[in-house]
Amino acid sequence: MEAVILHGGQGTRLRPLTHTGPKQLIKVAGKPVSQWILEQIRDAGIRDVIMVLGDNTPTRVVDYYGDGSRFGVNVTYVYQGKARGLADAVYKVKDVVSDRFLVYLGDNLVPYDLGKFVSFKGSCSILLAKVENPNRFGVAVIRDGKMSRLVEKPKEPISDLALVGVYGFTREVFDVIEGLKPSWRGELEITDAIQGLIEKGKEVDYEVVQGWWKDTGTPRDILEANSFLLDKHAERRINGVIEGSTVDGRVVVEEGVVVRNSVVRGPVLLGRNTKVVNSYIGPFTSVGESCEITDSEVEHSVLLDNVRIKGVSLMDSLIGNNSVVEKGGRWQRLVIGEHSLVIL
Ligand code: G1P
Repeated sequence: MEAVILHGGQGTRLRPLTHTGPKQLIKVAGKPVSQWILEQIRDAGIRDVIMVLGDNTPTRVVDYYGDGSRFGVNVTYVYQGKARGLADAVYKVKDVVSDRFLVYLGDNLVPYDLGKFVSFKGSCSILLAKVENPNRFGVAVIRDGKMSRLVEKPKEPISDLALVGVYGFTREVFDVIEGLKPSWRGELEITDAIQGLIEKGKEVDYEVVQGWWKDTGTPRDILEANSFLLDKHAERRINGVIEGSTVDGRVVVEEGVVVRNSVVRGPVLLGRNTKVVNSYIGPFTSVGESCEITDSEVEHSVLLDNVRIKGVSLMDSLIGNNSVVEKGGRWQRLVIGEHSLVIL
């Protein structure tokens, strides 16, 4: 069985971060969203991974994962080209998968034992979760314990069970995709492909998942995923230098880090070669590699790599690679790119 991780989509709700790379590569709790997925797949014993690349800087994905050996898997790449929907992305792997394969949307995080997919029943297996805003998702109607109908982004409230972004398929899905028509949003929908299987009388197996999961489509989702993953995985591990500081709880301090005259309260992750001076880093914060935090307070935030902040108090913030946030005098001096958000 192969696992397919989809890396397409424009990530419009995550601009400006997605102007320079696909959303699936945004780091939460120190790793790109799709690396968390890759490791989850590997830990379920699946070694052959196919990445479907969209048209938003796909080379970034190839540069990061290479042949997969760094992560203990074999990675191959398939180009989707212009995005025509998730079903179109799935169709692109037709020539490289065997009888059964797993598809994982590269911007979803679903802490679930993927080993259960290795021997799923029927033609397709999906995960569902109860949601409060079903109109944002594909939803499933269950009758007498059986999957009866699936609808993408329903206008009418027909079900509150959303499709979570992990699917098991057999090759039967390719025939259905060949006959699909674009939806009202102009895409070939994976949800419509599964509906097509049902209409052909095929069995679609499902499980309703209870715990946390996330489609990391917005900055708020990224912060929530970061908190969840830090809470679940951060263990106290101090590799850098701590001077005149208090470092409490589950704090990961990577090599080359210097924490001077500061307070750090976990769960927190400080990436390699980062410097924290005269500052407070509060819970649920991930700081990337080679950052400089001086005279500042940061809590419940994600700072990506090579960020410099000075003299500021940040909360619920998401700061992109190579950004600088400094407090000047009474006047603010700003150099801001497209689609930025600044709250002073
Ligand atoms: C996609 C699928 C939808 C599914 C969702 C899960 O939505 O089309 O069926 O419920 O992922 O995250 P999209 O992210 O394209 O809006």
